[in-house]
Amino acid sequence: MTHDVLIIGSGAAGLTAALVLAEQARVLVLAKGALDAGSTAWAQGGIAAVLDEGDTFEDHVRDTMVAGGGLNRRETVEFVIEHAPQAIERLIELGVPFNVDPAVDGGLHLTREGGHSHRRIVHVNDATGWAVQEALLKAAHAHPNITMMPDMVAVDLITDRHRTAPTGERRVWGAYALNGQTGRVECFAAKATILATGGAGRTYLFSTAPRGATGDGIAMAWRAGCRISNMEFMQFHPTCLYNLEVKNFLITEAVRGEGGHLKLPPGVPGGGERFMPRFDPREELAPRDVVARAIDHEIKRLGLDYVHLDISHKDPEFVRGHFPNIYERLMGLGIDMTKQPIPVVPAQHYTCGGVLIDLTGRADLSGLYAVGECSESGLHGANRLASNSLLECFVFGDAAARDILARWDQFAPPPELRAWDESRVADSDEEVVIKQNWTELRRFMWNYVGIVRTTKRLERAAHRIKLLQGEVNEYYGNFRVTADLIELRNLLQTAELIVKAARARHESRGLHYNLDFPQTDPAARDTILVPKVR
Ligand code: FAD
Ligand code: SIN
Repeated sequence: MTHDVLIIGSGAAGLTAALVLAEQARVLVLAKGALDAGSTAWAQGGIAAVLDEGDTFEDHVRDTMVAGGGLNRRETVEFVIEHAPQAIERLIELGVPFNVDPAVDGGLHLTREGGHSHRRIVHVNDATGWAVQEALLKAAHAHPNITMMPDMVAVDLITDRHRTAPTGERRVWGAYALNGQTGRVECFAAKATILATGGAGRTYLFSTAPRGATGDGIAMAWRAGCRISNMEFMQFHPTCLYNLEVKNFLITEAVRGEGGHLKLPPGVPGGGERFMPRFDPREELAPRDVVARAIDHEIKRLGLDYVHLDISHKDPEFVRGHFPNIYERLMGLGIDMTKQPIPVVPAQHYTCGGVLIDLTGRADLSGLYAVGECSESGLHGANRLASNSLLECFVFGDAAARDILARWDQFAPPPELRAWDESRVADSDEEVVIKQNWTELRRFMWNYVGIVRTTKRLERAAHRIKLLQGEVNEYYGNFRVTADLIELRNLLQTAELIVKAARARHESRGLHYNLDFPQTDPAARDTILVPKVR
């Protein structure tokens, strides 16, 4: 099947690009499950933008770089932040019903999150992502130039080596994808390809990210020959609900932004104490890496299962009004957040590293772009500032689409390509292997490559990844691919990149904290991994 542009991913980044491209090109969007199953629909807090009179671009840039441990590329930070008001304007045009502030005539309500020196987060109650995903999908469905195909799992990018007559060119021509309905792998050729596949949160046992966050785009780009950067910076959100049945429900940072306190639970020395003032003068509103490490420290020091997030001192109407979805969900679990504290633990939340791109979203191979959470644009540095991620999706989705349109004459139609070869594989007879390896990987990544790392733990993880990769690669070579097998192979690839990057960094900075290298070096440098196939 041939289209002008192939976009892999139907979240904020992919659909933003699709809507811009569709004005002049025929676009195909693939998603591996339902169209709204990515992280975008799960976003709670909102989108950061300088909209308040007292706020400035310089302040947003400074907050982003302070949170990012100085590793951010300033040019990217300025580019994204200066385009934020325009991105919000476009979302309003698409019908996103942002909350308004009755105190400011016609102005949007701005909430606050950790690391921000001003109120600057626009939001739709506490379910911003759902409203954004709905609006983008509605516009994409209505556009005659956009075709969306759910239940299509991209397996690998199509490169020169997949041509019937290879030329040695470093070029991408689309992707092979597994059709979930037929179980067959199909060839999707395109003049340009955009990866918008989201993050790799499911590399870890506990994550706020949805089931499909398995790092597919990062792994595909690496296998095709692209550089991947800063994978050691995995962000852990401080406040995921602790509940034995509901494992990945986020309690938005806006709860702390609106006055929630982190406390030790009763029954331990210092029970009921607000502990963040002991760790950082910014208290509960310090950047995420600081708050998550403080919670991890208290949990380990006192042998706790969780700490408490308490906003019950605020007016119940205020709490219900600001957090209606979280309130309802917690009530369903027997927790009334207007009267009692919420048990919380840190959990993996965001992948700061990814496919290395420039300001137009271009990756290393011609014809290939990467946008959103699967990319590393230089915006987040060593630790993402809250609510800068959706913003990056809108700004880079737009930038990549405009770059493709501006260079349209340079994109030749795809050449003759080889079909997917299944002649030497059989149906799998041991699905249990995949489940076992998936669980094992996520567990040791949590224990060895989590919030606090040591060189020995990283070495142990590297050793185990190698063993599992041997097993899974053999399996991949002999059996017909399934969605689970594709994801496990990508998770292992992503885990290898995370550990490789973490072992290469001999300092602690932002989200990467190694007890053997606690110091922060004077100069900040990226960890750029270069694949052998280049
Ligand atoms: P996603 O929205 O994750 O979409 C990925 C797409 O790629 C999906 O359509 C998926 O099906 C598709 N895909 C993946 N692999 C394949 C494959 N192999 N083949 C075909 N398709 C594939 N950020 C903020 O800025 N503000 C917030 O308030 C906020 N809250 C958050 C709350 C939660 C619980 C989580 C998990 C994240 C939150 N984030 C927030 C982060 C933000 O939501 C994500 O970074 C952002 O939505 C990523 O968008 P994306 O378009 O890059 O990817
Ligand atoms: C949250 O609402 O706490 C998540 C915000 C983000 O990840 O940027």
